Amino acid sequence: MKITLRLIFYLVSVIAVAAIGFSFWQAHQEGLRLKNELERRASVIADSLKESIEPLLSRNSPESIKRIVNKFSNRERLIGVSVCDLEGNLLAVSANLELFLNESPKALQDSLQEVARLNSEYGEFVDFGGRLVHMYSIPLAADESSIHVLTLFHDRSYITERVGRIWINSFWRALIQSLLVGLTTLVLIYLSVMTPIKRTTDWIRRLRRGELVEEIDPRHRVLLGPLAGEISKMAKSLGLARIAAEEEARLRQSSESLWTAERLKEFVKVKFGDRPLFAVSNREPYMHFKKGKEIECIVPASGLVTAIEPVLRACGGTWIAQGSGTADRETVDRHDKLRVPPEEPQYVLRRVWVTKEEENGFYHGFANEGLWPLCHIAHTRPIFRAGDWAQYEAVNKKFAEAVLEELEGSKEPCVLIQDYHFALLPRLIKSKRPDARVAIFWHIPWPNPESFGICPWQKEILGGMLGADIIGFHTQFHCNNFMETVDRILESRIDYEHLTVHQANHTTWVKSFPISINFAGTSSSKAANDESRESLLAKYGIQARFMGVGVDRLDYTKGILERFRGIENFLESNPSYIGKFTFVELGAPSRTAIPRYAEFVAEIENEALRINERFKAKNWQPILLLKKHHSHKEIQPFYKAADLCLVTSLHDGMNLVAKEFVSSRDDEAGVLILSKFTGASRELSDSLIINPYDAVETAEAIKTALMMTAEEQGERMRSMREIVKERNIYKWASDLVGELARIRLVRPV
Ligand code: G6P
Repeated sequence: MKITLRLIFYLVSVIAVAAIGFSFWQAHQEGLRLKNELERRASVIADSLKESIEPLLSRNSPESIKRIVNKFSNRERLIGVSVCDLEGNLLAVSANLELFLNESPKALQDSLQEVARLNSEYGEFVDFGGRLVHMYSIPLAADESSIHVLTLFHDRSYITERVGRIWINSFWRALIQSLLVGLTTLVLIYLSVMTPIKRTTDWIRRLRRGELVEEIDPRHRVLLGPLAGEISKMAKSLGLARIAAEEEARLRQSSESLWTAERLKEFVKVKFGDRPLFAVSNREPYMHFKKGKEIECIVPASGLVTAIEPVLRACGGTWIAQGSGTADRETVDRHDKLRVPPEEPQYVLRRVWVTKEEENGFYHGFANEGLWPLCHIAHTRPIFRAGDWAQYEAVNKKFAEAVLEELEGSKEPCVLIQDYHFALLPRLIKSKRPDARVAIFWHIPWPNPESFGICPWQKEILGGMLGADIIGFHTQFHCNNFMETVDRILESRIDYEHLTVHQANHTTWVKSFPISINFAGTSSSKAANDESRESLLAKYGIQARFMGVGVDRLDYTKGILERFRGIENFLESNPSYIGKFTFVELGAPSRTAIPRYAEFVAEIENEALRINERFKAKNWQPILLLKKHHSHKEIQPFYKAADLCLVTSLHDGMNLVAKEFVSSRDDEAGVLILSKFTGASRELSDSLIINPYDAVETAEAIKTALMMTAEEQGERMRSMREIVKERNIYKWASDLVGELARIRLVRPV
């Protein structure tokens, strides 16, 4: 209130000073104008009198002059007229002026002197015996010898009155204006400043007390501007910190030893001191795209990103990845870096640029047309082109340079390389920085030695990977495949007991680290915007009692066609579900520049169309294919509202969709149907495990899921949630980083 009053005081004072200044100027101008006007009028009257009196003077006719003088003296504001010689001897004077002149003869004398000196007319404003008067004297020439002077006396008090009136008016105007401005300011401040501040203060107080509060009122954002955003972020961080602290306390109480972000952070600190982590992947965690004039930031659909991002958030460090968004270059600094996540920066993203040609050979070509199908064995032939291989080597070298640049200045850095895009990177880094602790984690399956044996650059790939200190896979099965492949292809010493490969004077540990997610827990996953199944489907004009969900990149390894055929089989054999069960596929288009992927999208669209045509009814269809990139926030309501989730990969390193579905079901309901060919099926044995190639088995699993009692759903879901909760991404990272820290580095002699 004090501030408000002070503000109003200053405001009113400034307005008052401005009003006084303006009034002064106005009064002054008006005074000048009236004086000029009076002088002009006196001069006109004097001129016309002069014309009449001069001939009378020549004729020496004082009576006539007196008559004229008296006749003129009753004009507006004219006090009187006198005619006298230069000594002041009056020849004629108007009646009421005589008294005046007797009382103050000096004023007339002064005026006559000035006329004599100038030999011209002379006007001045004088105080004539307490009366404000304007005197205007003009010489009259009768003949050369005698000069007479005609003087006009005007009352000028009206000018002072007029100026005074202006001052009084201005005073009232300034007073009213100041009052109005003060009052309006008071009301405005109260409504638009004090009220939002008071409400925001209440909001912050409730937040501090830990009461669950909604988002900051958007209306108050207008006033608080960017401050509101910062307060919201701070509130969010405070909320998360409180949840984490409660969770830590709960874990301590129950002597559970769950891995959390905080625990991992401490663990990494203990193991590596202040040395930062470096992660390298092709796909970046945040992509910036141009959307009209705006820039949009998205988190790409990638299991790798889902898994690694929480680790970098927890531990900080630098993530080196390809910049591939259309606005990526506009959002980095001059070192090609930016701090992310955008809403709460916690680590550095260093973007590496690749040319179109490199992208075609390295990413579309060798990585995704060669290695991807080679490792997945999902009935798509790998394509190996020498040109693609050359680009793969070139881009690996380019990334090696970028990584080495980032490592400069850090002793014994810890480098976590991700996936099949960078098989050559471990050796490239290790050869330049033998003090670095390097791990490569292969996020996709590793095939058997026979299958891998068709790759023309098998030795180079294995040699490159074996530059690492640790090679990680999701499952022991893939580790075994890798060991056997090395055994078959390279000359090396393999220790099957400790799972190490000794080659080129370097030992590599091969180990399984089943990757996971940041398990949401109960408290933080309670989104306020949980949407019902009815409303989710109603947006697409569908009414269905039961709903299934699938979330995938549109990739031929995900078994989406097989899934659709399983649904078709289910409806065929269970017609009572026609009109009642709808399956929603949230499919993110992926790698669409590769012909096989483009073909695949067309195949699933046609298949969905065919099945929908076959069964569709009014307000219902069996398959809803939503083909676009969905954010985590958009996917959550579907996970939460679904009766079942279908994961039917033909081959998958892990598949984190399965774990995300489980994590989001804090209601302990819903059924997971999971392909036996995913890494996740080794851990989530309480899902309904199927062979996705068998449409009948898939159909039966759907039926079992829809008919499963709430009790059984609860039992299965609880057990799977326990597993995902315990083996979360922080445990994965602590296992990998712990192993890396344990390794004894052998320095070259
Ligand atoms: C798989 C790979 C990741 C990749 C992701 C998305 O999960 O293991 O390395 O990022 O697919 O594919 P994309 O080609 O879009 O990066």
